[in-house]
Amino acid sequence: MKYPVTVYGDPLLRKTAKKIDKDSEGLNEIIENMWETMYYSDGVGLAAPQVGLSIRLFLVDGTTGADEEPELKDFKKVFINPEIIETTGEEWVMNEGCLSLPEIREDVTRPDVVRIKYFDENFIEHEKEFKGFAGRVIQHEYDHLDGVLFIDYLSPLRKRLLKSKLSNIAHGKVRPHYRIKAPAK
Ligand code: NI
Repeated sequence: MKYPVTVYGDPLLRKTAKKIDKDSEGLNEIIENMWETMYYSDGVGLAAPQVGLSIRLFLVDGTTGADEEPELKDFKKVFINPEIIETTGEEWVMNEGCLSLPEIREDVTRPDVVRIKYFDENFIEHEKEFKGFAGRVIQHEYDHLDGVLFIDYLSPLRKRLLKSKLSNIAHGKVRPHYRIKAPAK
């Protein structure tokens, strides 16, 4: 089942998501549905708050980028209760988009390397380092669990220039090809 995608303006996207209990019911089904939603929406990552669930879970699949970055060939992962330990390396700029901000793309600066601790879908704990595109996607998705969106990193000027686009999203005046959750009236 595909979830409708929560978009800018929904207060849930600004909340700090809650940790997931190992025995919480229905988690596998949620993960299945999130994969389906992400692939249908052409996303490379999807965080639970983007489908209306305020829990600390996101998934990524950057394997299509493996032609350019061979390290990405196994970059299909589920992150449960992740904790970023540190970010290091040189900061670089990438043009980012987000399923929760349809029709907006902006240059965002982030550090290259992220060291992260997380549980996978079988609740096995891992600690790993990701860099380049993988590190980028993880930092973006992780932010969603803390109520942060990539537009928060923009200069006041860039933000001002986006004001009408953001207002359109918040008022449901965008029509991406995937289903979005109707904004609260
Ligand atoms: Ni996003």
